Amino acid sequence: MNALNQTEGKMDTETQRSTQLLGDPLAGAKAPGTKPTLAAGGQPAYFSCWDIHAYYGESYIVQGVSFDVREGEIVALLGRNGAGKTSTLRAIARADDPALRQGEVWLDHKPLHEMKAHQAAQAGIGLVPEDRRIIQGLTVEENLKLAQIAPPVGWSIDRIYDLFPRLGERRNQEGTTLSGGEQQMLALGRTLARDVKLLLLDEPYEGLAPVIVQEIEKTLEQIKSLGMTTIIVEQNAIAALHLADRAIILDMGQVVFDGTSQEVLDDADLRQQYLAI
Ligand SMILES: Nc1ncnc2c1ncn2[C@@H]1O[C@H](COP(=O)(O)OP(=O)(O)OP(=O)(O)O)[C@@H](O)[C@H]1O
Ligand SMILES: [Mg+2]
Repeated sequence: MNALNQTEGKMDTETQRSTQLLGDPLAGAKAPGTKPTLAAGGQPAYFSCWDIHAYYGESYIVQGVSFDVREGEIVALLGRNGAGKTSTLRAIARADDPALRQGEVWLDHKPLHEMKAHQAAQAGIGLVPEDRRIIQGLTVEENLKLAQIAPPVGWSIDRIYDLFPRLGERRNQEGTTLSGGEQQMLALGRTLARDVKLLLLDEPYEGLAPVIVQEIEKTLEQIKSLGMTTIIVEQNAIAALHLADRAIILDMGQVVFDGTSQEVLDDADLRQQYLAI
């Protein structure tokens, strides 16, 4: 085969693959590990990660994760303790740890895999970490204002108080003295204060009383109705599945299921096997 033929052969394979992917852009369940869908024109979906591998030192944790998220969609990222959910979110947000050593992450046509964490944040990643990280010594309002210190700015502080009236009532209270539920509201509010294109929520209900969980759930429903694209990681899988359109299940750092939330709710064996519920 001469060089020209080789090139043609390669293009054929690539065209074929794109065609297959383009053929079913709104597919529900699909085999884990297939390349994320391409929107019309061969561009990546609004968000996609493709074959990402991430390590803590030599510890190989995220082992070839691929999935995509459409604009306005809410995806629940589920799995047992230690499955790699937090690590996947952190790899997407380009935290230093775990280090992303292979794979691609795209958000709204921007290559996050080429970025550092602060650049990924500027490109629209909004990670609300499990431990909420409210800044000590600052009031509620100062925490929110600090989030807006650099552009691009998102929601106004008044709009955040409309969503969370409790934060408005406590605007002059030191953030770290808020209750757990209020700190979760502040962590969410602080993220919305920046121009977020993809909200990453790591266990937003963790450690909260059921009545507060319901309150946060209502707020997340409101945020959903505004069309915010979101990935939610939650131990409370049933609550996450009711909020989310789609579910991705991780096990040992790999995707073992990618389909609709309803499929997971209807499949007791799947839930038992991977979620122990
Ligand atoms: N900083 C770290 N250094 C080394 N290994 C880590 C580190 N953080 C997490 N791990 C390991 O990576 C694996 C995945 O952890 P990760 O926190 O991503 O799981 P998870 O699915 O979020 O679990 P959980 O539901 O308990 O929050 C675990 O085996 C964990 O021990
Ligand atoms: Mg976790």
